Amino acid sequence: MEAKITAIGTYAPEKVIDNHYFESFLDTSDEWIRTRTGITERRYSADNEYTSDLSIAAVKNLAARYGKTISDVDFILVATVTHDQIMPSMASQLQYRLNIPNAAALDISAACAGFGYGLTLARSLIRSGMYRKILLVGAETLTKVTDFEDRTSCILFGDGAGALLIEAADKGNIGECIAGAEGSGGQELYLSTQATQVNGTPIKANNKIVQNGRAVFRWAVTRMSEMFEAVVEKNGLTKEDIDWFIPHSANMRIIEAICRQVGFPVEKSLESLSRFGNTSSASIPLALDEAVRDGRVKKGDKLLMLGFGGGLTYAGTVVEWGL
Ligand code: ACO
Repeated sequence: MEAKITAIGTYAPEKVIDNHYFESFLDTSDEWIRTRTGITERRYSADNEYTSDLSIAAVKNLAARYGKTISDVDFILVATVTHDQIMPSMASQLQYRLNIPNAAALDISAACAGFGYGLTLARSLIRSGMYRKILLVGAETLTKVTDFEDRTSCILFGDGAGALLIEAADKGNIGECIAGAEGSGGQELYLSTQATQVNGTPIKANNKIVQNGRAVFRWAVTRMSEMFEAVVEKNGLTKEDIDWFIPHSANMRIIEAICRQVGFPVEKSLESLSRFGNTSSASIPLALDEAVRDGRVKKGDKLLMLGFGGGLTYAGTVVEWGL
Protein backbone atom coordinates (compact mmCIF):
# COMPACT_ATOMS: atom_id res chain seq x y z
CA MET A 1 0.00 0.00 0.00
CA GLU A 2 0.99 3.61 -0.51
CA ALA A 3 0.60 6.58 1.84
CA LYS A 4 -1.92 9.28 0.99
CA ILE A 5 -2.72 12.52 2.83
CA THR A 6 -6.52 12.62 3.19
CA ALA A 7 -7.12 15.59 5.51
CA ILE A 8 -5.41 18.60 7.06
CA GLY A 9 -6.25 20.69 10.13
CA THR A 10 -4.58 23.47 12.11
CA TYR A 11 -5.00 25.51 15.23
CA ALA A 12 -3.35 28.65 16.57
CA PRO A 13 -4.01 30.23 19.97
CA GLU A 14 -6.16 33.37 20.04
CA LYS A 15 -3.70 35.80 21.58
CA VAL A 16 -1.92 37.83 18.85
CA ILE A 17 1.40 39.46 19.77
CA ASP A 18 2.74 42.11 17.39
CA ASN A 19 6.35 43.31 17.21
CA HIS A 20 5.66 46.48 19.21
CA TYR A 21 5.07 44.28 22.28
CA PHE A 22 8.84 43.66 22.49
CA GLU A 23 9.68 47.37 22.30
CA SER A 24 8.29 47.79 25.83
CA PHE A 25 10.98 45.64 27.51
CA LEU A 26 13.78 45.11 24.96
CA ASP A 27 16.12 47.27 22.90
CA THR A 28 14.45 46.34 19.61
CA SER A 29 11.94 47.66 17.08
CA ASP A 30 9.15 46.54 14.82
CA GLU A 31 11.27 47.63 11.87
CA TRP A 32 14.30 45.49 12.92
CA ILE A 33 12.14 42.42 13.51
CA ARG A 34 10.26 42.74 10.22
CA THR A 35 13.29 43.40 8.05
CA ARG A 36 15.67 40.88 9.74
CA THR A 37 13.15 38.03 10.16
CA GLY A 38 9.98 38.65 8.11
CA ILE A 39 7.82 38.29 11.24
CA THR A 40 4.90 40.68 11.78
CA GLU A 41 3.04 38.89 14.55
CA ARG A 42 2.81 35.56 16.35
CA ARG A 43 0.35 33.71 18.62
CA TYR A 44 0.88 33.01 22.31
CA SER A 45 -0.83 30.17 24.13
CA ALA A 46 -2.68 31.00 27.34
CA ASP A 47 -1.01 30.09 30.64
CA ASN A 48 -3.23 27.02 30.98
CA GLU A 49 -3.06 26.04 27.29
CA TYR A 50 -0.48 23.38 26.45
CA THR A 51 0.88 21.54 23.42
CA SER A 52 -1.58 18.66 23.92
CA ASP A 53 -4.47 21.16 23.83
CA LEU A 54 -3.20 22.74 20.59
CA SER A 55 -2.71 19.27 19.06
CA ILE A 56 -6.23 18.18 19.91
CA ALA A 57 -7.69 21.39 18.49
CA ALA A 58 -5.81 20.82 15.21
CA VAL A 59 -7.04 17.21 14.95
CA LYS A 60 -10.62 18.27 15.68
CA ASN A 61 -10.31 20.93 12.98
CA LEU A 62 -9.13 18.24 10.53
CA ALA A 63 -11.96 15.82 11.43
CA ALA A 64 -14.66 18.50 11.19
CA ARG A 65 -13.50 19.95 7.87
CA TYR A 66 -13.11 16.64 6.07
CA GLY A 67 -15.81 14.59 7.88
CA LYS A 68 -13.19 12.09 9.04
CA THR A 69 -13.61 9.40 11.68
CA ILE A 70 -10.48 9.20 13.79
CA SER A 71 -11.42 6.52 16.33
CA ASP A 72 -9.92 3.90 13.98
CA VAL A 73 -6.53 5.60 13.62
CA ASP A 74 -3.86 2.97 14.30
CA PHE A 75 -0.76 5.15 14.83
CA ILE A 76 -0.37 8.62 16.33
CA LEU A 77 2.84 10.57 15.72
CA VAL A 78 3.39 13.92 17.43
CA ALA A 79 6.41 16.02 16.47
CA THR A 80 7.25 18.48 19.23
CA VAL A 81 10.03 19.80 21.47
CA THR A 82 7.57 21.38 23.89
CA HIS A 83 5.71 18.41 25.37
CA ASP A 84 3.44 19.19 28.34
CA GLN A 85 5.73 16.80 30.17
CA ILE A 86 8.43 14.32 29.11
CA MET A 87 6.29 11.34 30.09
CA PRO A 88 3.56 10.48 29.20
CA SER A 89 4.11 11.40 25.56
CA MET A 90 1.90 13.86 23.71
CA ALA A 91 0.84 11.03 21.39
CA SER A 92 -0.35 8.99 24.39
CA GLN A 93 -2.29 11.99 25.66
CA LEU A 94 -3.97 12.31 22.26
CA GLN A 95 -4.73 8.58 22.19
CA TYR A 96 -6.68 8.95 25.44
CA ARG A 97 -8.24 12.38 25.03
CA LEU A 98 -9.35 11.79 21.43
CA ASN A 99 -10.63 8.30 22.32
CA ILE A 100 -8.60 6.32 19.78
CA PRO A 101 -8.55 2.88 21.43
CA ASN A 102 -6.21 0.90 19.17
CA ALA A 103 -3.47 3.34 18.25
CA ALA A 104 0.25 3.13 18.83
CA ALA A 105 1.55 6.45 20.17
CA LEU A 106 4.96 8.02 19.64
CA ASP A 107 6.51 11.48 19.96
CA ILE A 108 9.20 12.66 17.54
CA SER A 109 12.00 14.87 18.86
CA ALA A 110 13.58 16.45 15.80
CA ALA A 111 12.84 20.14 16.49
CA CYS A 112 11.86 22.10 13.38
CA ALA A 113 12.50 19.05 11.21
CA GLY A 114 9.92 17.08 13.23
CA PHE A 115 7.10 17.36 10.71
CA GLY A 116 9.36 16.22 7.87
CA TYR A 117 10.51 13.28 9.98
CA GLY A 118 6.86 12.49 10.70
CA LEU A 119 6.02 12.37 6.99
CA THR A 120 8.98 10.03 6.43
CA LEU A 121 7.90 7.72 9.26
CA ALA A 122 4.20 7.75 8.39
CA ARG A 123 4.94 6.84 4.78
CA SER A 124 7.25 4.02 5.86
CA LEU A 125 4.80 2.63 8.43
CA ILE A 126 2.04 2.45 5.83
CA ARG A 127 4.26 1.03 3.10
CA SER A 128 5.45 -1.66 5.53
CA GLY A 129 1.86 -2.93 5.58
CA MET A 130 1.69 -2.74 9.37
CA TYR A 131 -0.48 0.39 9.70
CA ARG A 132 -3.28 1.92 7.63
CA LYS A 133 -4.40 5.17 9.21
CA ILE A 134 -1.97 7.59 10.83
CA LEU A 135 -2.42 10.93 12.54
CA LEU A 136 0.65 13.15 12.20
CA VAL A 137 0.69 16.25 14.38
CA GLY A 138 3.30 19.02 14.59
CA ALA A 139 2.58 21.17 17.64
CA GLU A 140 4.50 23.59 19.83
CA THR A 141 4.12 26.02 22.69
CA LEU A 142 7.59 27.52 22.16
CA THR A 143 6.66 30.65 24.09
CA LYS A 144 6.69 28.58 27.29
CA VAL A 145 10.41 27.88 26.75
CA THR A 146 11.40 31.26 25.30
CA ASP A 147 14.11 33.32 26.99
CA PHE A 148 12.56 36.79 27.08
CA GLU A 149 15.87 38.33 28.08
CA ASP A 150 17.47 37.24 24.79
CA ARG A 151 16.44 39.78 22.13
CA THR A 152 17.97 37.72 19.33
CA SER A 153 15.68 34.75 19.93
CA CYS A 154 12.56 35.77 21.86
CA ILE A 155 11.22 37.84 18.98
CA LEU A 156 11.19 34.74 16.76
CA PHE A 157 8.97 32.19 18.46
CA GLY A 158 5.24 31.51 18.42
CA ASP A 159 2.76 28.74 19.23
CA GLY A 160 0.61 26.63 16.91
CA ALA A 161 -0.32 23.18 15.68
CA GLY A 162 -0.99 21.34 12.43
CA ALA A 163 -2.25 17.83 11.72
CA LEU A 164 -2.47 15.51 8.75
CA LEU A 165 -4.41 12.29 8.34
CA ILE A 166 -2.37 9.83 6.27
CA GLU A 167 -4.10 6.68 5.02
CA ALA A 168 -3.23 3.56 3.06
CA ALA A 169 -4.25 3.79 -0.60
CA ASP A 170 -3.47 2.12 -3.92
CA LYS A 171 -2.05 5.38 -5.19
CA GLY A 172 -0.16 7.47 -2.65
CA ASN A 173 0.92 11.09 -2.77
CA ILE A 174 3.93 11.28 -0.44
CA GLY A 175 7.06 10.91 -2.53
CA GLU A 176 10.58 9.77 -1.74
CA CYS A 177 11.84 11.27 1.51
CA ILE A 178 15.18 12.39 2.83
CA ALA A 179 16.02 12.68 6.52
CA GLY A 180 19.35 13.35 8.16
CA ALA A 181 21.23 14.92 11.03
CA GLU A 182 24.45 16.77 11.77
CA GLY A 183 24.91 16.18 15.48
CA SER A 184 28.20 18.05 15.35
CA GLY A 185 26.14 21.26 15.40
CA GLY A 186 24.04 20.25 18.41
CA GLN A 187 25.42 22.97 20.68
CA GLU A 188 24.24 25.71 18.28
CA LEU A 189 20.58 25.24 19.20
CA TYR A 190 19.36 23.55 22.37
CA LEU A 191 16.80 23.39 25.15
CA SER A 192 17.87 21.73 28.36
CA THR A 193 16.71 21.30 31.93
CA GLN A 194 20.06 19.89 33.03
CA ALA A 195 23.50 21.51 33.16
CA THR A 196 25.18 18.93 30.97
CA GLN A 197 27.25 19.44 27.82
CA VAL A 198 26.74 19.00 24.09
CA ASN A 199 29.79 18.07 22.03
CA GLY A 200 32.01 19.20 24.90
CA THR A 201 30.32 22.60 25.20
CA PRO A 202 28.75 23.23 28.63
CA ILE A 203 25.10 24.23 28.21
CA LYS A 204 22.64 26.27 30.23
CA ALA A 205 19.97 24.44 32.20
CA ASN A 206 17.22 27.03 32.20
CA ASN A 207 14.62 25.14 30.16
CA LYS A 208 14.78 27.90 27.54
CA ILE A 209 15.74 27.78 23.88
CA VAL A 210 19.34 28.89 23.35
CA GLN A 211 20.62 29.43 19.84
CA ASN A 212 23.58 30.74 17.94
CA GLY A 213 21.45 32.47 15.34
CA ARG A 214 24.24 33.24 12.89
CA ALA A 215 25.61 29.68 12.91
CA VAL A 216 22.17 28.14 12.40
CA PHE A 217 21.40 30.68 9.68
CA ARG A 218 24.56 29.81 7.73
CA TRP A 219 24.06 26.07 8.15
CA ALA A 220 20.40 26.26 7.11
CA VAL A 221 21.11 28.16 3.90
CA THR A 222 24.01 25.96 2.78
CA ARG A 223 22.62 22.58 3.74
CA MET A 224 18.99 23.21 2.80
CA SER A 225 19.98 24.43 -0.64
CA GLU A 226 21.71 21.07 -1.12
CA MET A 227 18.72 19.21 0.32
CA PHE A 228 16.26 21.06 -1.92
CA GLU A 229 18.17 19.71 -4.90
CA ALA A 230 18.55 16.25 -3.34
CA VAL A 231 14.79 15.86 -2.72
CA VAL A 232 13.92 17.03 -6.22
CA GLU A 233 16.40 14.59 -7.75
CA LYS A 234 15.35 11.67 -5.53
CA ASN A 235 11.80 12.12 -6.81
CA GLY A 236 12.90 12.14 -10.45
CA LEU A 237 11.85 15.78 -10.86
CA THR A 238 13.40 19.10 -11.77
CA LYS A 239 12.87 22.32 -9.84
CA GLU A 240 10.56 23.50 -12.61
CA ASP A 241 8.17 20.67 -11.63
CA ILE A 242 7.76 22.06 -8.11
CA ASP A 243 4.66 24.25 -7.71
CA TRP A 244 5.30 25.29 -4.10
CA PHE A 245 8.33 25.18 -1.81
CA ILE A 246 7.31 24.89 1.87
CA PRO A 247 10.42 25.13 4.01
CA HIS A 248 10.41 25.43 7.77
CA SER A 249 9.52 29.05 8.59
CA ALA A 250 12.58 30.13 10.61
CA ASN A 251 13.51 33.40 8.97
CA MET A 252 12.34 34.95 5.68
CA ARG A 253 15.94 35.74 4.79
CA ILE A 254 16.80 32.03 5.06
CA ILE A 255 13.94 31.17 2.67
CA GLU A 256 15.01 33.90 0.24
CA ALA A 257 18.66 32.78 0.37
CA ILE A 258 17.79 29.11 -0.31
CA CYS A 259 15.60 30.13 -3.24
CA ARG A 260 18.36 32.36 -4.62
CA GLN A 261 20.93 29.59 -4.20
CA VAL A 262 18.93 26.94 -6.05
CA GLY A 263 17.37 29.30 -8.60
CA PHE A 264 13.77 28.85 -7.47
CA PRO A 265 11.31 31.81 -7.48
CA VAL A 266 10.71 32.91 -3.90
CA GLU A 267 7.15 33.87 -4.90
CA LYS A 268 6.49 30.13 -5.14
CA SER A 269 7.40 29.52 -1.52
CA LEU A 270 4.85 29.31 1.28
CA GLU A 271 5.57 30.60 4.76
CA SER A 272 3.75 30.88 8.06
CA LEU A 273 6.45 33.13 9.50
CA SER A 274 4.90 36.54 8.99
CA ARG A 275 1.71 35.74 10.90
CA PHE A 276 2.81 33.01 13.32
CA GLY A 277 6.57 33.50 13.84
CA ASN A 278 8.77 30.42 14.11
CA THR A 279 6.49 27.61 15.33
CA SER A 280 9.06 24.83 14.81
CA SER A 281 7.29 21.54 13.92
CA ALA A 282 3.99 23.37 13.28
CA SER A 283 5.36 25.85 10.75
CA ILE A 284 5.04 23.70 7.61
CA PRO A 285 1.43 22.54 8.16
CA LEU A 286 0.40 26.10 9.16
CA ALA A 287 1.83 27.48 5.90
CA LEU A 288 0.32 24.67 3.84
CA ASP A 289 -3.14 24.90 5.39
CA GLU A 290 -3.39 28.62 4.84
CA ALA A 291 -2.61 28.15 1.15
CA VAL A 292 -5.05 25.23 0.90
CA ARG A 293 -7.81 27.35 2.44
CA ASP A 294 -7.23 30.38 0.23
CA GLY A 295 -6.93 28.29 -2.94
CA ARG A 296 -3.27 28.90 -3.77
CA VAL A 297 -2.49 25.18 -3.38
CA LYS A 298 -4.60 23.16 -5.79
CA LYS A 299 -5.18 19.47 -6.36
CA GLY A 300 -2.27 18.04 -8.32
CA ASP A 301 0.25 20.66 -7.17
CA LYS A 302 3.69 19.33 -6.29
CA LEU A 303 4.80 20.60 -2.88
CA LEU A 304 8.40 20.38 -1.73
CA MET A 305 8.41 20.36 2.09
CA LEU A 306 11.70 20.75 3.91
CA GLY A 307 12.20 21.03 7.66
CA PHE A 308 15.45 21.90 9.46
CA GLY A 309 16.36 22.74 13.01
CA GLY A 310 17.86 21.71 16.34
CA GLY A 311 19.92 18.57 16.35
CA LEU A 312 20.89 19.72 13.84
CA THR A 313 18.29 17.83 11.85
CA TYR A 314 16.57 18.02 8.49
CA ALA A 315 13.88 16.08 6.61
CA GLY A 316 11.81 16.61 3.51
CA THR A 317 9.78 15.16 0.68
CA VAL A 318 7.60 16.04 -2.30
CA VAL A 319 3.82 15.68 -1.91
CA GLU A 320 1.40 15.74 -4.82
CA TRP A 321 -1.52 17.53 -3.18
CA GLY A 322 -4.77 15.59 -3.53
CA LEU A 323 -7.46 17.49 -1.61
N1 ACO B 1 16.50 43.88 17.86
C1 ACO B 1 17.48 44.75 17.50
N2 ACO B 1 18.75 44.35 17.24
C2 ACO B 1 19.02 43.04 17.38
C3 ACO B 1 18.04 42.10 17.77
C4 ACO B 1 16.75 42.57 18.02
N3 ACO B 1 15.73 41.76 18.39
N4 ACO B 1 18.62 40.88 17.80
C5 ACO B 1 19.91 41.04 17.46
N5 ACO B 1 20.15 42.35 17.22
C6 ACO B 1 21.42 42.96 16.82
C7 ACO B 1 22.61 42.21 17.30
O1 ACO B 1 22.94 42.51 18.62
C8 ACO B 1 23.67 42.66 16.32
O2 ACO B 1 24.12 43.90 16.71
P1 ACO B 1 25.70 44.29 16.57
O3 ACO B 1 25.97 44.26 15.08
O4 ACO B 1 25.78 45.66 17.19
O5 ACO B 1 26.45 43.24 17.33
C9 ACO B 1 22.87 42.85 15.03
O6 ACO B 1 21.50 42.96 15.40
C10 ACO B 1 23.04 41.69 14.08
O7 ACO B 1 22.94 40.46 14.82
P2 ACO B 1 22.92 39.07 14.14
O8 ACO B 1 22.90 37.99 15.17
O9 ACO B 1 23.97 39.01 13.08
O10 ACO B 1 21.50 39.16 13.46
P3 ACO B 1 20.96 38.28 12.31
O11 ACO B 1 20.70 39.11 11.16
O12 ACO B 1 21.74 37.01 12.14
O13 ACO B 1 19.53 37.88 12.89
C11 ACO B 1 18.48 35.96 13.85
C12 ACO B 1 19.42 37.12 14.08
C13 ACO B 1 17.11 36.53 13.51
C14 ACO B 1 18.39 35.13 15.12
C15 ACO B 1 19.00 35.13 12.67
O14 ACO B 1 20.35 34.81 12.88
C16 ACO B 1 18.25 33.83 12.47
O15 ACO B 1 17.08 33.84 12.10
N6 ACO B 1 18.94 32.70 12.64
C17 ACO B 1 18.38 31.38 12.36
C18 ACO B 1 17.42 30.96 13.39
C19 ACO B 1 16.93 29.57 13.04
O16 ACO B 1 16.79 29.21 11.89
N7 ACO B 1 16.69 28.74 14.02
C20 ACO B 1 16.38 27.36 13.72
C21 ACO B 1 15.07 27.00 14.04
S1 ACO B 1 14.59 27.33 15.67
C22 ACO B 1 14.22 25.81 16.38
O17 ACO B 1 14.70 24.81 15.98
C23 ACO B 1 13.30 25.84 17.59
